Amino acid sequence: MHPNLSAASLRGEKAGIIVLYNMEAVKTLTEFIIERQADFKYAKGELTRLLSDISIAAKIVNREVNKAGLVDILGEADSVNIQGEAVQKLDVYANKQFIAALTAGNEVCALVSEEDEDIIHISNNGNDVGKYVVAFDPLDGSSNIDSNVSTGTIFAIYRRVSLSGPAELDDFLQPGTELVAAGYIIYGSSSMLVYTTGRGVNGFTLDPSIGEFCLSHPDMKIPKSGKIYSINQGYFVHFPKGIKQYIKYCQEEDEATNRPYSLRYIGSMVADFHRNMIKGGIFIYPTTAFSPTGKLRLLYECNPLAFIAEEAGGKASNGSKRILEVQPECIHQRVPILIGSEDMVTTAEEFIAQYSEVPTS
Ligand code: AHG
Ligand code: MN
Ligand code: MN
Repeated sequence: MHPNLSAASLRGEKAGIIVLYNMEAVKTLTEFIIERQADFKYAKGELTRLLSDISIAAKIVNREVNKAGLVDILGEADSVNIQGEAVQKLDVYANKQFIAALTAGNEVCALVSEEDEDIIHISNNGNDVGKYVVAFDPLDGSSNIDSNVSTGTIFAIYRRVSLSGPAELDDFLQPGTELVAAGYIIYGSSSMLVYTTGRGVNGFTLDPSIGEFCLSHPDMKIPKSGKIYSINQGYFVHFPKGIKQYIKYCQEEDEATNRPYSLRYIGSMVADFHRNMIKGGIFIYPTTAFSPTGKLRLLYECNPLAFIAEEAGGKASNGSKRILEVQPECIHQRVPILIGSEDMVTTAEEFIAQYSEVPTS
């Protein structure tokens, strides 16, 4: 948390007396983006608007996620709610909300969403006019909704490469090294938006009392090493040999390297990644016998988090090379991923190399 911020100062309270909200201590996301827009390479105003549109959609989705427990009272998914509107599953709802937010301005010409098979074109009089394309996972970890466990949204912003007309596949098939901005929102015990435009990573906590994301984690850095490994160990028998050996290494006793490590696996990549960003750790979703190219998607799960990890001093690999250097071949491509603290990812890569595991993507 920022040294000038305390929960009490955010609420504007002092020794039980309500005082004015401490505007000097609080920097909102909107203020921060505007201050930083001089750093953007191109279309400064448009990227500012785009990030701001994303934050508005995030607040709306956050409101719905927080109401999820009331669904039995307000109506089941696929039924009709009290206003006569169809109640939607939250991942469908989040998808629609982000599409609506990203369509509202003229900054984006096309979208790729985990929930839609094809590219979504955003046309203005038959022209895709926006300069940016966005790939996103509207609700990550959505199977956790029913059990009150954190979920998230992940987004990746690229500049379009086609010159005019409808956006093309190639606008999305850019390696992560071409990312202009990326971020995630975590809907958790408090909700946060974390993003980078390639000049460090900053985190903002939603203050529900004023409905603003406020800078709480400036210039985030992931510890060089940590004590947490995150992997679905239930699939151990299906993992490649190098990953099995790395897991055994994590469980061995060794004082010098602080082992054995702790295993933490939420099942929401955003939440697992975010915890590891703060505390240090590694998250792995490897190839498995039943997912030979891994499970997670390159464009809207792995690349954006890899960009953030690297900007925070961490590392993201497919086992043998940087995630950001993987050339995408299709919009819903899957890749194996090892992401988090630099030293831990390097050690895991060494195990993979030693057991000659060649990533299949
Ligand atoms: P999504 O909810 O967007 O489909 O993503 C779920 C992903 C990711 O968040 C998580 O880390 C992983 O799936 C969990 O998969 P397993 O249940 O196979 O471990
Ligand atoms: Mn996901
Ligand atoms: Mn999802």
